[in-house]
Amino acid sequence: MSAAVPARPRVDAFFTVAEARSDRWRTLVHVVNAWQASAVEHLPERETDKEAVTSCLSDLRPWEDFFAYPGGVLLQKVDDRIASGDAMGTARLIHQISAAISSRSYRENVGDWEKGDDSPIVVAEVVNGLGQEGAAHKPYCEILFVTPGGPAARAQSAQELRKLRRPLDQFVYEPVMVGNFEDAVLGTILNGSVQAVVIYDSIPFASVHNSPVLREVLTNHLGPAAIKKGTQDYGISLAQALKLLRPELDIYLLSDRQVEKTAGDPEAKCIRRVFYQVEEALEIHLSILDGVLDRYSTPYFDNLQKYAQRPVGTFHALPVARGKSIFKSNWIRDMGAFYGINLFLAESSATTGGLDSLLEPTGNIKVAQDKAARAFGADHVFFVTNGTSTSNKMVEQALLKPGDIVLVDRNCHKSHHYGAVLTGALPLYVEAFPLTQYSMYGAVPLRSIKKGLFDLKKAGKLDRARMLVLTNCTFDGHIYNVERVMQECLAIKPDLIFLWDEAWFGFARFSPFYRRRTAMGAAAILEKKFKDPEFRAAYQAQAAAYGSDLDPSDESLLNMALLPDPDKVRLRVYQTNSTHKSMSALRQGSMVLVKDVDYKTVEEQFHEAVFTHASTSPNLQIIASLDIARRQMELEGYELVNRAIQLALDIRREVNSHPLISKYFRVLGADGMIPAEFRQSGFVDYLTPGNDWAKSARALREDEFALDVTRLTLVCGSAGVDGTAFKNMLAADYDIQLNKTSRNSVLLQTNINNTRSDVANLIKVLADISRDIEDRLARGGESDRQAFAARVKNLMENVPDLPNFSYFHSSFRETPSSITSEGDMRRAFFCAYRAQDCEHLKLASPEIDKRLKEGPELVSANFVIPYPPGFPIMVPGQVITSDTIDFMRKLDVKEIHGYDASLGLKLLKTSTLDNM
Ligand SMILES: Cc1ncc(COP(=O)(O)O)c(C=O)c1O
Repeated sequence: MSAAVPARPRVDAFFTVAEARSDRWRTLVHVVNAWQASAVEHLPERETDKEAVTSCLSDLRPWEDFFAYPGGVLLQKVDDRIASGDAMGTARLIHQISAAISSRSYRENVGDWEKGDDSPIVVAEVVNGLGQEGAAHKPYCEILFVTPGGPAARAQSAQELRKLRRPLDQFVYEPVMVGNFEDAVLGTILNGSVQAVVIYDSIPFASVHNSPVLREVLTNHLGPAAIKKGTQDYGISLAQALKLLRPELDIYLLSDRQVEKTAGDPEAKCIRRVFYQVEEALEIHLSILDGVLDRYSTPYFDNLQKYAQRPVGTFHALPVARGKSIFKSNWIRDMGAFYGINLFLAESSATTGGLDSLLEPTGNIKVAQDKAARAFGADHVFFVTNGTSTSNKMVEQALLKPGDIVLVDRNCHKSHHYGAVLTGALPLYVEAFPLTQYSMYGAVPLRSIKKGLFDLKKAGKLDRARMLVLTNCTFDGHIYNVERVMQECLAIKPDLIFLWDEAWFGFARFSPFYRRRTAMGAAAILEKKFKDPEFRAAYQAQAAAYGSDLDPSDESLLNMALLPDPDKVRLRVYQTNSTHKSMSALRQGSMVLVKDVDYKTVEEQFHEAVFTHASTSPNLQIIASLDIARRQMELEGYELVNRAIQLALDIRREVNSHPLISKYFRVLGADGMIPAEFRQSGFVDYLTPGNDWAKSARALREDEFALDVTRLTLVCGSAGVDGTAFKNMLAADYDIQLNKTSRNSVLLQTNINNTRSDVANLIKVLADISRDIEDRLARGGESDRQAFAARVKNLMENVPDLPNFSYFHSSFRETPSSITSEGDMRRAFFCAYRAQDCEHLKLASPEIDKRLKEGPELVSANFVIPYPPGFPIMVPGQVITSDTIDFMRKLDVKEIHGYDASLGLKLLKTSTLDNM
């Protein structure tokens, strides 16, 4: 079929969905402007210009099938005007449509649907629903109807649906009609406004659109169940496929067969309601609205708003509540003016009156958390109001006890190191691969993790290995193959608990690209996989070849994909995310997600951990914002995350291809951030010529590490500036704030808040800075050029080697000769509490070199964490080796936590260690 339609424009450039659509319309605007100009002047090229308009329009036409606006009526009007040679009228209409698409004003503005004529199209039903002047805002969305029948029948059905609108409806939707399985998938991918899909059974499979990449996606990514070609009932398969792409959507199935049977089919679990096709149009309409309302409602926030409206008298310990001490104050009235009355009306220390208690939620906080669990694919969610720093410590306290072994990336956030101090669990540090040139670490190779587990097995300690803690994605954007990591670790230790610190990556749930690489996405995949007979057979084959008790000294096991015993495996997955870092939560809003088959066995401990760490005075606004962040992500997360990805790709492309900027700056692609050995699919980068959605999706499925495109490492050392200086320059001179820095790079990040204007501003600033460097070098003569080249060389080449974790001092190891290196960091930490047990040595002191050579060993009394790079180069009880000293001496950063240059390194005295 695809051979028959080669000339049709392809509709599967999925990475560029929304912005590309606006761009296509703007291109059409330019083309129609040219026609208008030549027509007004009666120039000879006016006929060719007119043809250009027709051709440009037919290029964008196939995409428009998947959007309600402008819709068939307006597009027909455009065609009519072109056919009648009305260049001015065509231009006017195309301008209006393009503006409405770019600004999305059609979502609120009735006028946009009536444009372009002296006698406007009267879409009475639309007027009935869309916001008119003075009317309350009704959120607008689109509903995809997958229905057989020709265009006329579909237009008729759409009209019938519009007639069902009532003034009481809380939302207004426009139907988008498609006619087959493939178009339903395309519509779901392309149209971020779609909130629900209504599928009529007995739809055909194939699309007439040209979308070879879609075929590959359907075949490889949505699973064979999605394509039961040859059968007539694609309804359930389609529902399953769409849920894989966008789990938040409500799916309704209409069938004229045995609906009772379908409704009870376990395969139909993902369908919200099944209807008998010939009846119940109003029921369908109401169900659609009810489904949207379910996601829209924010039980805690809604209640807080109601609470704020009540004339509450307060005699509790929160003077700012109600704001009287502020608005009547002589001196702090500006606080009230700045924040507004609602903030104060919505403050309370009460847990009654519908406000619920974060520590022991039974009311609307509980419901809000349950909704968040649904949205993020977890079994349970805990809202946390003091950041993921606290979420991590809660999870660790709940699940680890003194003497347990926790495998942890040494380069992880400090909260995990403190988690080990808090719980008394022994950290077994596993090392991430270094990116020495940029003074940063990547992520921990699976091989190292497996080796750690096998070594524990050899040493007879595997039963004590309780948890693996990894950061996904890392600060710099390295994403694990979460499914593979968990699968293989479970093959060695079937009840290992996983804590995925997704502080930066909470948003990833809402991208079909990233979801499989999130803790919850991968857990869902594994859950299904472990029930699959094919997986069981594969496991049995592995057990026959290698035994069911894997031999830890068999090196070949490190290189093959291990399968766990599906009968033994306990899937226990925890995720923490800084909702405030990637979604619309207020600062410190964080969540803990739980998907643990044995959660019941730790529930009490979990609550204890919440009691330990949660403030007894949690901030109500943070709780409300977590509830709202969930609402937003369930309703528009897909669209917003797509845009953040798109903007990141735009920055990458513009910087790296700009003739001037690229002389001094570069954004590192996947190939710059991830060594080739971890990109097994051969993937190079998202922007490599010839790459497409399917290849990117394949890399996300197969490769050991992937790069989160929204985290952009911008190399600035090649502009002769170090990361910190560049960050300061952008902030001071250009009002641009960014994330972290390294010796020769800075980290930029796009998120759901960024716009194309932000990108344009950044590119302009980089172009200005590049021009400035160029001018200075041109003016400065040879000596300046040489100084510049030397500075660049120093920043880019004279980079210190990153020190690996050495080992814990024997006083902190149970068996100093053990092949595994875990240590009792908590004991070391508290050893340093008595000043007389510690000493200081200046970094430059020859005593340090002497002791490195001759001993006694130098043992760190505390954590030493330089920013950048931000990982602890020393932890309490760690023996300091010459690598670490060399690194410290070369380090040219000002901020080093745990190190006071005027005192020197803080060490545990040898006498202290001897007496332990
Ligand atoms: C990987 C990681 N985990 C946890 C945290 C702590 O999160 P929060 O700032 O929400 O306390 C951070 C903060 O930067 C982080 O980078």
